[in-house]
Amino acid sequence: MFNKIIRPRRLRISENMRALVRETNLSVKDFVYPIFVVPGKNIREEIPSMPNCYHLSVDNAVELAKKISALGIPAVEIFGLPEYKDETGSAAWNMNSPVQRAISEIKKAVPELLIVGDVCLCQYTSHGHCGKLCGNYVDNDETLKLLQKVAVSQAEAGADIIAPSDMMDGRIAAIREALDENNFSNVVIMSYAVKYASGFYGPFRDAANSAPQFGDRKQYQMDCANSREALKEVALDISEGADIIMVKPALAYLDIVSKVRAEINNPVAVYNVSGEYAMVKAAALNGWIDEKRIVLESLTAMKRAGADIIITYHALDVANWL
Ligand code: PBG
Repeated sequence: MFNKIIRPRRLRISENMRALVRETNLSVKDFVYPIFVVPGKNIREEIPSMPNCYHLSVDNAVELAKKISALGIPAVEIFGLPEYKDETGSAAWNMNSPVQRAISEIKKAVPELLIVGDVCLCQYTSHGHCGKLCGNYVDNDETLKLLQKVAVSQAEAGADIIAPSDMMDGRIAAIREALDENNFSNVVIMSYAVKYASGFYGPFRDAANSAPQFGDRKQYQMDCANSREALKEVALDISEGADIIMVKPALAYLDIVSKVRAEINNPVAVYNVSGEYAMVKAAALNGWIDEKRIVLESLTAMKRAGADIIITYHALDVANWL
């Protein structure tokens, strides 16, 4: 029967009452903002499937980084389009590539802003896969040697956090070892530990020109039907030295975020990916949803599920709203 003494609505009576009892609060300090850098100068071109996100040359990326830092956002993640692609993706560890130059220029201009380097080869290989091919198969152990070079080159440029997104087995141990051998024992590893083979990366692959030229990534990224496997990946990466664990994508995988959070004591990050962003933007531009409300609700849900860190293209807008 209705117990008239216990009335949950009492605690919802006003905005201040709700604020007083709120379990989850979003903060600008939760965010990492992704930036796409391209070769050239004075370039600022909007990415068609990601409204209000831009391809920026290094000079413009530095200007944006200053604004991001001034808004209080603690970190950026740098992705890049190289000047050339080849079989092994060698531009990925070239100190003159846009990513390495952007890292060092941003570090010089805004030293306190944390820089995350995305370590992967798909933007750099002619075939668009995340590693070195042996026939049509991505050779795991040969790829590890290349990922080590990418990680060290980004640390040399000034990256504070290395984020491997390739999904090769053993990459965290390999990268930790390479970083330590090169005197980067304080560089943090944020592992894309739980990265699903997902349709939600579509707009990013247009933006980064990184779609595989044949097949798909299902031989290395995870099957969206699996959740126990996520815990296995997380345990492996922590045992290999990962400092921060990431789950990607975010919204369709909040059950995974919640399970991972319950299992570990490392910080948990989520990647609110390009397809999630594009869906919200498209609906908002059509006037079909209230963008601010939907974005704040979605990001709050990620945090409620257990995320400490949210990598999101909405970060600039949200920093202005909060
Ligand atoms: C590189 C990488 C991808 C994303 C981040 N790093 C794409 C992929 O795995 O195909 C996706 C980010 C996004 O969709 O916003 N491997």
